[in-house]
Amino acid sequence: MLSSYKSFHYIEDIHKYVGEEVTLRGWVYNLTGKGKLQFIMLRDGTGVIQCVVFKANVSEEAFENAKSLTQESSLSLTGKVVSNEKAPGGFEIDVTNLQIIQLAQEYPITPKDHGDSFLIEHRHLWLRSSRQHAIMRVRAAVMKAIRDFFDGNGFKLMDSPILTPNACEGTSTLFETEYFDLGKAYLSQSGQLYAEATALALGKVYTFGPAFRAERSKTRKHLTEFWMVEPEMAFFDLNDDMDLAEDLVEYIVQYCLKTCQKELQTLERDTTKLEKVRRPFHRMSYSDAVDWLVENKIPLNKKIDGKDVEILPFPWGEDFGSPQEEAIMEQFDKPMIIHRYPTEIKAFYMKRDPINPKVVLAMDMLGPERAGELIGGSQREDNFDLLLERIKHEDLPEDEFKWYLDLRRYGSVPHSGFGLGVERTVKWITGATHIREVIPFPRMIYRITP
Ligand code: 4AD
Ligand code: MG
Repeated sequence: MLSSYKSFHYIEDIHKYVGEEVTLRGWVYNLTGKGKLQFIMLRDGTGVIQCVVFKANVSEEAFENAKSLTQESSLSLTGKVVSNEKAPGGFEIDVTNLQIIQLAQEYPITPKDHGDSFLIEHRHLWLRSSRQHAIMRVRAAVMKAIRDFFDGNGFKLMDSPILTPNACEGTSTLFETEYFDLGKAYLSQSGQLYAEATALALGKVYTFGPAFRAERSKTRKHLTEFWMVEPEMAFFDLNDDMDLAEDLVEYIVQYCLKTCQKELQTLERDTTKLEKVRRPFHRMSYSDAVDWLVENKIPLNKKIDGKDVEILPFPWGEDFGSPQEEAIMEQFDKPMIIHRYPTEIKAFYMKRDPINPKVVLAMDMLGPERAGELIGGSQREDNFDLLLERIKHEDLPEDEFKWYLDLRRYGSVPHSGFGLGVERTVKWITGATHIREVIPFPRMIYRITP
């Protein structure tokens, strides 16, 4: 497809050219040499291949060029593809010509151990390392799986605005900016409210984009800018919503297992648990989860007057944190959906359970292996009066929600949706230890560069 303007080959295609001459362009990943032989590990973004420069096979100038190479120098080389079981990847290149594009200065990242802060400061270069490279490829696969899943199931992609006049997920995590003569604008915490409007226009939609939370949490699971996909469906109730969430997560995981074997191997990811991620997942109500925490004497950790206090038994009505989520999930290999959370700890737009208005028709999907919350979603309040009451109760600016309330004035229907955090999902699938490793350029409270 790309052949009309491609005058060189990619390492990932090299198995097709055994015995033939190819031209590769890339960077020096590693170098060794002795006497008349130089070994270049060449990377080109699609893979790494060993290139053998034998003095007798190349011009003197080309051999001198090969000897002068440094880590991460860029070059173009030509040579014959040969099978070699001993070479990493099973193929190598017998080089016949070699040109330096740029001779790199001393590269700051070497195979020795660097500290975390050094690596994150050099994120623009760290992305070239094999682990980071593998994680980014899995990330791209997760993004593709998400789009394929929704596009293939009749959903329409509806972009939601980033600059918004109001909060969606509580007012405490808003990034604020001046907006001309119109007062304050906020970076979107979620595209959901707009997704609801487009769902009532198009039936089944999804928004897919960045979300922003000025969250003061310095955890391994929080970014201030992250990517979220948010499907929204007219006429779906909470059960339909949970079914869809399970289908999506199963699809993403199985797609990655199928297409990212090499990457998961590079990451030394034990995939046996991922293979078990098949529907149906586990489901449990919030109240049953609290009973389990009480029975198992899992405390609530709270800060009171700046001190960490453990409260036992776990009181109904409190939100779960990582310790509770991880304790619950330790027993399971596949994700679990917890549903029907207390009204008071959940967002204003969630529909109260008609059977018990103390809880809302909300659901969170928790991942196994300490993945934490992958998904948050709910059936939405579709009754005008009840929604207005919640907006007032939460002290939200009624005026800014006028358009949102219109959706309950003109042809209101039951509808539901959820948001899946891309980085939480990639972190889980890759087994990365910190969320900052699964987005090209992470934004955290203490870092905005590079
Ligand atoms: O549970 P949340 O806050 O839900 C919403 O935003 C809803 N409006 C979604 C909807 O119903 N359309 O966020 C959804 C998901 C979380 O489960 C988590 O995976 C991810 O977004 N997430 C974060 N990921 C990284 N860093 C953060 N600070 C995150 N906050 C939420
Ligand atoms: Mg949530």
